[in-house]
Amino acid sequence: MKGLILSGGKGTRLRPLTYTSAKQLVPVANKPVLFYAIESIVEAGITDIGIIVGDTKAEIRAAVGDGSRFGATVTYIEQSAPLGLAHAVMIAEDFLQDSPFVMYLGDNLIAGGIRGLVDEFRALGCQSEILLAEVENPEQFGVAELTADGKVRRLVEKPKEPQSNLALVGVYMFDHHIFESVRRIKPSGRGELEITDAIQDLIDRGLDVHPHIVRGWWKDTGKLDDMLEANRIILESFDSQSGAALGSIGEGSRIEGRVQVGEGVVLIDSLVRGPVVIGDGARIENAFVGPYTSIGERCRLACCEVENSIILADSEIRDIPMRIDGSLIGRNVKITKTDFKPKAYRFMLGDNSEVGIT
Ligand code: G1P
Repeated sequence: MKGLILSGGKGTRLRPLTYTSAKQLVPVANKPVLFYAIESIVEAGITDIGIIVGDTKAEIRAAVGDGSRFGATVTYIEQSAPLGLAHAVMIAEDFLQDSPFVMYLGDNLIAGGIRGLVDEFRALGCQSEILLAEVENPEQFGVAELTADGKVRRLVEKPKEPQSNLALVGVYMFDHHIFESVRRIKPSGRGELEITDAIQDLIDRGLDVHPHIVRGWWKDTGKLDDMLEANRIILESFDSQSGAALGSIGEGSRIEGRVQVGEGVVLIDSLVRGPVVIGDGARIENAFVGPYTSIGERCRLACCEVENSIILADSEIRDIPMRIDGSLIGRNVKITKTDFKPKAYRFMLGDNSEVGIT
C-alpha cells in the first residue's frame, strides 16, 4: 500500500498564524500536526508516501525533507490550486498507480494510529474503507447515513440538515476504483471536487465501501479550540515523568506531574504543573506554567502565568498580571508590560488577530 497525505489548503480558520505558516505545521505538544500523520502511516507499515502540497510547499518540504527521518520515502505532488480532495486524488494517480492507498488529511489527528484500520481494509478486500465519528456539529463535515444493517446509504458534504451525527474522518482507504469516480463527479457548491461525492459515486456503482466507526478521539485541527483540545489530549497521553534532567531546574523551582523539559531549558523560581512540554532552550523565570501547555523552543517567560495554551518558538511573555489561558501564540510574538504614557494597551497585531481582555 501507499500513503497520500494532503497538506495544501489555505488554513483560513487559523489566521493569522497561517499567513506565515502552513496549518499542518502548527505544533501540537511541540510537534507539527503533519508529523503525527506521517508517523501513523509509517507505523501501519506504509513507507511510500506522496504529499500533496500547495502554496506552502517550500515550508512543508523544508520540514519533512525526503522522509528518511520518518523511515519513509516522500514524493511531493503539487496541486496548482485548492480544487478539492478528490482533485488531489486525481493528480496523485501517477504516483499511486494501481496500488491501494490510505489518504490522510494532514490536519487530522486520530487516537491510536491507523494500523488496525489498514489491516482491516487489507483483510476485507473492499474498494474503500471510510472512518466515521459521532460529532455534535455534523453540518461542518461530510456526513454519512447508514442503513439498518450498518451499510453506507448516502454521504453528503456539509449538509444543512444532517441525517445523522456521523462525520467523515479525514482518513480514507481506497483501491484503484476511486480514480474513475473522481473523474465522474462535478465540482460542489464551494467549487471543489469533493472526496465525499467520489465515495458516493463508488456506492452508486455498487462497489463495496466499508464504514468503520471510530470510538476513540479524533480531531480536525482546523480551528483554535480544536487545536487546544488536540494539545490537551496529546499532552495527557504523555507517560514520561519529569524529563527535567535535560534542562536545569534552578533553585526555587518545582515541577509537578508529567513534564517534558527540553535541552538547555532554564527554570528559575517557577512552578511547572504538567502535563506540559517545554522546548529546547526555553527560559522560565518567576512564572507559573499550568496544565496543558506547550512552550516552543527558545521562548522566554518571566513574571507571568500561562496554562492550557500553545506558544510557538521564540516568543516572549513578560510581566503580565492576568493568567493567560486558552491561547495560541505564534512565533516570535512579544507580550510585555510597557511603561509608556499614557497608561494604555498598546497592540501591534497582524490581520485577523484575536485578543480577549477581561
Ligand atoms: C474535509 C472533508 C469532510 C471531512 C473533513 C474531515 O472537510 O471535505 O468531508 O469530514 O475534511 O476533517 P474540509 O476540511 O475540507 O472542510
